[in-house]
Amino acid sequence: VRIWTADSARLSLVDFTLRPATSEDEPFLWEVLYQSIHVRAGDEPLPRTILDDPPIAHYLAGSRPGDDAVIACLDDGSPVGAAYCRFFTVEDPSYGFVSADVPEVGMAVLAEYRGRGIGRALLKSLLARQPTMSLSVDTDNLPARALYDSLGFVEVGQDGTSITMLRSGDSDVT
Ligand SMILES: CC(C)(COP(=O)(O)OP(=O)(O)OC[C@H]1O[C@@H](n2cnc3c(N)ncnc32)[C@H](O)[C@@H]1OP(=O)(O)O)[C@@H](O)C(=O)NCCC(=O)NCCS
Repeated sequence: VRIWTADSARLSLVDFTLRPATSEDEPFLWEVLYQSIHVRAGDEPLPRTILDDPPIAHYLAGSRPGDDAVIACLDDGSPVGAAYCRFFTVEDPSYGFVSADVPEVGMAVLAEYRGRGIGRALLKSLLARQPTMSLSVDTDNLPARALYDSLGFVEVGQDGTSITMLRSGDSDVT
């Protein structure tokens, strides 16, 4: 079920391409991390300083073996969305941590470009290289949950309003 937004009537197809992220994409990836933090309806926007909080910053700070990220760009090269994944540890787990050998994925598409297939393309691109991944999603975040369900992620835990989902590499959903 698609939840139509006030902007939905203006939705149209948009040409975009996917490419691997480079070090020059780092500022955009931080913006994507900021936008990926769910704010419940009626809540105040989060201060951007939340990106300095260790449990948030460790999604992108520095680099780690196995890091992967893909960027969606318009024809003029401007980035409009990204998905990235990283391995975490038992000592320093992420919100959607399931084990040290399963990376967690995070993603966002800029608001004005959502609902045009970019998020699905980004996630499928990462899954093609890393078919086993976990994630954390808010119970309220129905668009994201619908996308994850459709690509084979299943709920494996819940802590308050955060659901942990896991996609097995054996999943035949693509
Ligand atoms: C989640 C997000 C990345 C999806 O990106 P997107 O480009 O809008 O997604 P797509 O257009 O590729 O749609 C993919 C699927 O998402 C779901 N979806 C997207 N928009 C939806 C909406 N408004 N209502 C319900 N489902 C929706 C559908 O299952 C859709 O599949 P379909 O096109 O076959 O119906 C995007 O909504 C976003 O950036 N949200 C804010 C940040 C965020 O929540 N990140 C995830 C944190 S866990």
